[in-house]
Amino acid sequence: MTVTVEPAEPAAPAPAPGEAVLRRQRIRESAARTYARSFPIVPVRANGMTVEGADGRRYLDCLSGAGTLALGHNHPVVLEAIRRTLDSGAPLHLLDLATAEKDDFTEALFAGLPSGFGENSRVHFCGPAGTDAVEAALKLMQTATGRRGALAFTGAYHGMTAGALAVTGNVAVKTPLPGGGEVTRLPYPYDYRCPFGVGGPAGAELAVTFTERLLDDPAGGVVKPAAMILEAVQGEGGVVPAPDGWLRAMRRITAERGIPLIVDEVQTGVGRTGAMWAVEHSGITPDAMVLSKAIGGSLPLAVVVYHEEYDGWRPGAHTGTFRGNTLAMAAGAATMRFVARQGLVERAAVVGDRITARLRALAAELPVIGDVRGRGLMIGVELVDPDAEADACGSRPAAPELAVRVREACLARGLIVELGGRHDAVLRLLPPLTITDEQTEAVLDRLADAVRAAAAAGPGALPGARP
Ligand SMILES: Cc1ncc(COP(=O)(O)O)c(C=O)c1O
Repeated sequence: MTVTVEPAEPAAPAPAPGEAVLRRQRIRESAARTYARSFPIVPVRANGMTVEGADGRRYLDCLSGAGTLALGHNHPVVLEAIRRTLDSGAPLHLLDLATAEKDDFTEALFAGLPSGFGENSRVHFCGPAGTDAVEAALKLMQTATGRRGALAFTGAYHGMTAGALAVTGNVAVKTPLPGGGEVTRLPYPYDYRCPFGVGGPAGAELAVTFTERLLDDPAGGVVKPAAMILEAVQGEGGVVPAPDGWLRAMRRITAERGIPLIVDEVQTGVGRTGAMWAVEHSGITPDAMVLSKAIGGSLPLAVVVYHEEYDGWRPGAHTGTFRGNTLAMAAGAATMRFVARQGLVERAAVVGDRITARLRALAAELPVIGDVRGRGLMIGVELVDPDAEADACGSRPAAPELAVRVREACLARGLIVELGGRHDAVLRLLPPLTITDEQTEAVLDRLADAVRAAAAAGPGALPGARP
């Protein structure tokens, strides 16, 4: 029998590695996908600050899982803790039962809490996201005070959950009062875009005066709330550090009026700002701290830590299925200890200062950089329209299109930098605390080159807008 061999079809060009994955993601995942739009890469390997895409390209990651990866990707200390836990046969899921891993995590956490806070505190393990811990903290304070409502700030970011408890039927877990009450929005001091059009210490002073007078005004429309919640450095809001004096004033104002103060350290915690916890810069002692991201050593974990006097919950008052994941607790304990032991908090302060100084020098050369600010390794570069008129504070309108071009130019140069802030015009640098001197120089060189190139390209149409 003769077998006819069909001439081979001319081979179709092989899709670029990762292209098919990206295509399927675009088709299957929700329109709300976020980072995936900014960074159309398929990471296949990551180590420290370096991420390698399926196409073989390597990137320096200045996003670090939105500030989660204090030690960068796959740090040996984290991997070892995870492997050790897996090999030990410890149960991976145990609701909120006691385990050796949880005990050890709690030890590591309490050992590193700000002095004056850890001694009389309780911890509640929440669902694993930062937003879960924010919900828990607000509900805790509603229970403790019997009040509703919260004081929150312009530019704040605390998460994305809404409504789950509202649609739950179990009345007991909704007590003391149904619903979260009103949110009173207060001005957060933002030097470059001062809410009072003043800027500097005078702007922060006005923010204090406004808050105090509003709360004391019998016709101010504010019913005494269950809590005030704030970030010591606003991350998603555009990397806006609050002056220490303003934070101390918020502590005084809330204490004098019997309003619990919740500090959201989801992004600032574990050394990010050059202090283990951002509250330590001002020396204030909050009534509750909301923690997530880095405390899980790259795995999902969230807790609220609070003074024991607020522990008015009944058993089961704030329950949940995923609370204190075993691997995340092991990875988180290892991370917190390593950060403290290796002096990474101090290093974050030093390297952060160096980066900020270099970026300020760049701002003097490139008028598209309106402001450089931050604390430790939480740094923001606000991009503006240099041709627009400056306002009374010397600030110019945000340049969101330029910011997108800079982000793309960074990616083309092997640098992952995300945007945030008002109008998404702030480049946010969140490198791991383990960033080396060499990596620091490479980040700065690539960033400077990207800003120069994007600024030189002018305000024309965006290249290759992605679906
Ligand atoms: C300060 C702050 N709080 C809360 C959250 C919400 O955390 P998650 O995204 O894990 O829900 C974030 C997330 O970026 C945050 O930066």
